[in-house]
Amino acid sequence: MECNQIRIRNFRNIEWADVTFDPGVNILTGANAQGKTNLLEAISFTALGKSFRTSHDEDLIRFGSDGTEVSLDFTDSVRRQNITVRMISGKRRQIEHNKVKISRLSDVVGIFRTVLFCPEHLSLIKDGPGERRNYMDIAISQLYPIYLKSLQRYNQILKQRNQLIRGAEEDRKTFTDTIEFWSSQLAHEAAVISRYRYRYLVKASEHIASCFLEMMGEKEIPEAIYVPSCHLEPAACEDVDACEKQYLELLTSHHDREIGAGSTLWGIHKDDIDIRINQKSARTFASQGQQRSLALAMKLAEGEVCAEVCGEKPVFLFDDVFSELDATRRAYLSGKMKDRQVIITTCEPSGMIGGKVITVENGVYQ
Ligand SMILES: Nc1ncnc2c1ncn2[C@@H]1O[C@H](COP(=O)(O)OP(=O)(O)OP(=O)(O)O)[C@@H](O)[C@H]1O
Ligand SMILES: [Mg+2]
Repeated sequence: MECNQIRIRNFRNIEWADVTFDPGVNILTGANAQGKTNLLEAISFTALGKSFRTSHDEDLIRFGSDGTEVSLDFTDSVRRQNITVRMISGKRRQIEHNKVKISRLSDVVGIFRTVLFCPEHLSLIKDGPGERRNYMDIAISQLYPIYLKSLQRYNQILKQRNQLIRGAEEDRKTFTDTIEFWSSQLAHEAAVISRYRYRYLVKASEHIASCFLEMMGEKEIPEAIYVPSCHLEPAACEDVDACEKQYLELLTSHHDREIGAGSTLWGIHKDDIDIRINQKSARTFASQGQQRSLALAMKLAEGEVCAEVCGEKPVFLFDDVFSELDATRRAYLSGKMKDRQVIITTCEPSGMIGGKVITVENGVYQ
């Protein structure tokens, strides 16, 4: 997969831009606050249909203008394609894929695939489970559109079920009459999602191990193990029916606890990834450097799994990560990017790998 060209109008501090990219390494360089990350955000916006920095679309529209447009040309192994996103303040955004309207936002995910890596990802091991769930969700959604649909349904059902739980004290009858319905819907989607997450991590874990070993040259073997919240062994999630039954059991036998807590206590919104080195928790026992290397390995693995599943290498978007890495990891990362397309932002281009240099000043790219 290759990002060829992007045309932007009124996005963040970019009034107008038309930028072409090389198939290999592209380096966006400039002082702080010039628009380096904004360009990566625009690229990622066409890949995911949403920003990685804000959940408020309005933030993306350039101050003082009433709408924005981002049009991205990319090539997969078959042909050159285009995704265009238009947004007018206060209105629904419009997305077109090869000039054909896409009605649902989720349908754009997985057409143009990217792996985003920013400094915050370096704390993926130390962070809370929400960040690790996010890691799985973005990676898996780009591979299997059906996963994202299931996840969206799950979140909707979860919202309804939580509302019902919170209203249970006041309206016990509605709770008793309908909780079973919502529990069974939730259990079903949870089981479907669990299987995807389990399978994904089995694949990713192998790549995490090989990247980590190559990078660190150590004999310690890392693993990334899926931790479903339903207390099943990870491999048991292969069996969707058994997993659904287990979730249903949990969701039907602890109503008082859930009412006390005011929310749903079991489900894929409580999952985690257990990252281990030599079978010990990396979160507790790994050094800071090992944790960062593991996080880097997780991001690289995201690209490897994507290539394996789709037969297309994704485009890597690196926001300011090189300055956060030491010489060994920098060299490793540079080596890894040799036969891939990568778009890198940096304030400090010296010591970077060679590639097309694009200078950024006040939202202008040259
Ligand atoms: N909606 C908007 N309209 C106009 N300008 C905006 C908007 N949103 C953000 N900006 C501006 O965009 C500028 C550049 O942001 P960006 O994050 O791309 O900088 P950067 O080049 O990545 O800097 P750094 O090196 O510090 O990360 C900021 O000064 C910010 O104020
Ligand atoms: Mg930046």
